[in-house]
Amino acid sequence: MDLAVDPRAVESLLAFWADAGVEASYADEPIDRLAEGAAMLRARREPAPPVAVAPIAAPAFGRGPDLDTVVTQAKALAGACNDLPALAAAIAAFDGCPLKTQGARQAVVSRGPVDAPLMIIGEAPGADEDAQGAPFVGKAGQLLDRMLKAAGLLDRAFVTNTVFWRPPGNRTPTPQEQAACAPFLERAIELVQPKMLLLVGGASAKSILSRDEGILSLRGRWFEWTSSDGRTELPALPTLHPAFLLRQPAAKKKAWIDMLMLSERLDRPHRPN
Ligand code: URA
Repeated sequence: MDLAVDPRAVESLLAFWADAGVEASYADEPIDRLAEGAAMLRARREPAPPVAVAPIAAPAFGRGPDLDTVVTQAKALAGACNDLPALAAAIAAFDGCPLKTQGARQAVVSRGPVDAPLMIIGEAPGADEDAQGAPFVGKAGQLLDRMLKAAGLLDRAFVTNTVFWRPPGNRTPTPQEQAACAPFLERAIELVQPKMLLLVGGASAKSILSRDEGILSLRGRWFEWTSSDGRTELPALPTLHPAFLLRQPAAKKKAWIDMLMLSERLDRPHRPN
């Protein structure tokens, strides 16, 4: 009988035998399972022949112009924007960041008051942000908002990211993708004029501060961010990403300490030198 014919026929035949009280089936000849196992163990002990693995290439920077050209274009476009709506439109029209054509639905630029004293810079939009067109609106963003609210900072924060399109599969944006978006981010800082920056997660902190250390070493320490023309300096505080806190709730204490440091400095009376 050809058992590969129809699975329903096989099922019905098995049900027939089961109804008849047949609970096990045997082949005509015995099978030595121990010999099979020994052969498998031998095969496992023998080293497998080396397989040629191609090195994983960093994603190329796209098929268009090189990074320097893209950054020059981005600087010119961003510099021509005199307010945030114009900047958002320029970002949406910008084709220099390869992420734009890697499955993102739309550009995700910012949310929050345009005169906020605090600017929060995350890593990159995720699926919820891509769908809704605003940064930090998914589960991680909701946790961020709860922490900001508890620290009295919720309505005082302008929220954005190092890149404006969702990376495919939520991978970390590459330094090149961040560099392509950086002139727009810098222009946003010039237009909002925050008093300080909160850098959320390692990909943000490393890119904005040009540092190599991990976020666990950077967080909770004040750094000085300097604009590319050297004219603006702002205190910047790296902290843990709320997506990390959702996976590691025990780390929330550290993030809360960072939040309190931030709110204390934000409200500290300014003493002129
Ligand atoms: N994570 C980020 O870093 N940014 C977002 O906007 C959402 C999640």
